[in-house]
Amino acid sequence: MGPVTTVYVFNGPNLNLLGTRKPEVYGTATLASVEELCRATAAGHDLELDFRQTNHEGDLVEAIHEAGAAVKRGEALGAVINAGAWTHTSLALHDAIEGAELPVVEVHISNVHAREAVRHHSYLSPVAAGIVVGFGVDGYALAIDGLVRKLRPVRSA
Ligand code: DQA
Repeated sequence: MGPVTTVYVFNGPNLNLLGTRKPEVYGTATLASVEELCRATAAGHDLELDFRQTNHEGDLVEAIHEAGAAVKRGEALGAVINAGAWTHTSLALHDAIEGAELPVVEVHISNVHAREAVRHHSYLSPVAAGIVVGFGVDGYALAIDGLVRKLRPVRSA
């Protein structure tokens, strides 16, 4: 077995309320169950999961820096990020991802393009390796799979 590789899953503001917040939009799964889904998906790829949620933008900026450094050390693959409303407001997160050179898959539980116009623009999309929107919380698993398929070199048997 090779060295342990981590995949990060970062969640922004209000995602701690998953399960009770607008279930008609975000479903009834809790963030704890999303973490379990991500852990099982990561394990299926022999990856360790580092799963976090914060309501403080600077904490997410610093987590992105930390993850970028881990990728450069060869200890991590990249990150799945649901930045919540910061998606639509935060040039700082755009600059953090770009500056840290962190491979990111942007995920949204809801189809943001079918919602209010303010949710159609993303500061993260131009610096994302890929984007998964509108698949509910299953999008987190799809995003991890996509990150692996895009980034992990194919191992010979
Ligand atoms: C979200 C979509 C955002 O517009 C919203 O602010 C969220 C959740 C999603 O997962 O669908 O907080 O990122």
